[in-house]
Amino acid sequence: MADWSDVGDAYAASFAALCAGAVDALLDEAAARTTGRVLLDVGTGPGTVAAAAAARGWDAAGVDAEESMLAAARRLHPGLSFSLGRLPRLGIDADAADAVTANFVLNHVPDARESARELARVAKPDGVVVATIWYGVTSPLRPMWDAMLDAVGLDRPADRTLPAEKDFGRDADGVAAMLREGGLDGVRAEIVAWDYAFDPAELWAGVEGGVATVGCIYRAQDAATRARMAQAYDRVTSERAGADGRVTVPHRAVLVSGRPG
Ligand SMILES: C[S@@+](CC[C@H](N)C(=O)[O-])C[C@H]1O[C@@H](n2cnc3c(N)ncnc32)[C@H](O)[C@@H]1O
Repeated sequence: MADWSDVGDAYAASFAALCAGAVDALLDEAAARTTGRVLLDVGTGPGTVAAAAAARGWDAAGVDAEESMLAAARRLHPGLSFSLGRLPRLGIDADAADAVTANFVLNHVPDARESARELARVAKPDGVVVATIWYGVTSPLRPMWDAMLDAVGLDRPADRTLPAEKDFGRDADGVAAMLREGGLDGVRAEIVAWDYAFDPAELWAGVEGGVATVGCIYRAQDAATRARMAQAYDRVTSERAGADGRVTVPHRAVLVSGRPG
């Protein structure tokens, strides 16, 4: 599992924009499946979903397992409430929200089924759980990171995988089955797709800040190797950039929803 400790500001300034690509679809699904207006966003990070929900008129709040994420969320969205909570035991009363959302969170917990069950417990009986998980097992950014690591001669550590009994398919059928096995009813899943267009300097701030596997690799290097990684990144991204200097990488996610069983 990724280590999210102390990366709140770096994540907010970089990878948060990537995960934001699924937010409209996630909130559309929540609105389509409940008439209630109370939304709890779990694994809220810097509060992107909670803030977008509030802008749509939801009474929204967020929880996250990491203090630095909560600090970023509170700084960016001072009008909203953010509190500490770690799946699979959030420490929140049952039936607390009409919509319980988790944007790219169930792919970061050791037991997604148990965590889905907890999301359902927190949702009202006529409420809905809506989650996203990346489609496929490797990130579309991976070729870019691999080109950078190859240029520096660095090996990528083996991917951390879940034990077979905790794993699930990273497609619509696999994610839907995981949610059903977590006890949810009326499960439906679809693929959402968007183009992630980023300013290379913005994403690099996340790497320097230690976000994601590539950020952990960067942080483990000495100063000279870090400098070579930065040079390789500049070259790899400039090869891929459009006329506006931004790099565009298509992404896909599974959007899944279900009702408490
Ligand atoms: C990829 S980020 C997504 C953040 C946010 N949902 C977004 O859309 O930008 C994953 C988030 O899940 C949080 N997280 C990881 N494990 C968690 C757990 N067991 N319980 C609650 N949050 C967790 C991390 O701290 C991080 O904020």
